[in-house]
Amino acid sequence: DPAKLQPLLETARGRFDVDSIEECDSTNTVLMRRGGEGAPSGSVLVADFQNAGRGRRGRSWMATPESGLMFSLLWRFNRALADLCGLSLTVGVAVAEALEGLGARGVGVKWPNDLLFQDAKLAGILVELTSDARGTLAIIGIGLNLKSPDGDLPQPACGLDDLLHPVPDRHILLAKILDTLAPTLDRFDAEGFAPLQARWQQYHVWQGRRVDILGDCAGKISGTCLGADRDGALLLSTP
Ligand code: BTN
Repeated sequence: DPAKLQPLLETARGRFDVDSIEECDSTNTVLMRRGGEGAPSGSVLVADFQNAGRGRRGRSWMATPESGLMFSLLWRFNRALADLCGLSLTVGVAVAEALEGLGARGVGVKWPNDLLFQDAKLAGILVELTSDARGTLAIIGIGLNLKSPDGDLPQPACGLDDLLHPVPDRHILLAKILDTLAPTLDRFDAEGFAPLQARWQQYHVWQGRRVDILGDCAGKISGTCLGADRDGALLLSTP
């Protein structure tokens, strides 16, 4: 309920135009269309249900209002498209800090877009970019599990109820995330990922661990994960 959300916003009050719908295909798709029609930076769309919710790499994302918070945020940047590669990491830092601010302990990030708790997926971020006459536009889609999802999943998953008791109401969660996102995105727009790199690295759960990179084109690459560089690219130490 946007009317219930607005008074919960603190520093970011007035910066977001929040809309909610019961059902759509994907909040990212709807907001991208609205962006093309001129929707302003700070437009937010929350849905109770998505019938074609999308994850990265062609995966789908499914949740109910009881089991997940699903929303997208439209943000316009002064940077070129090519300078936005650290954006999903930046968003990950902001969401992790917001959840910590609500008392969650042990939230981590995995390059490039997952939030984890004890190596299980807690939230996913889907950033889609385009540019128009007004500049560069990002649709930042966030799916946060409130309860551990059921079903056949590509990786272990968990919910906020594994970390926080009771789980805050979705309005409180969204307000906290938006309040944290606004200054973090401002900083990213002005200075890029570099000043956020150390913050991201603190949350990085694979830091110094052996990993296998499974690409679409190349075969498996194994090495030690050293985190992300100043642009947000993954650092892997190999022989
Ligand atoms: C991933 O982990 O693969 C990213 C998942 C992103 C899911 C969110 S839910 C709200 C927004 N709308 C979508 O269709 N996807 C994102």
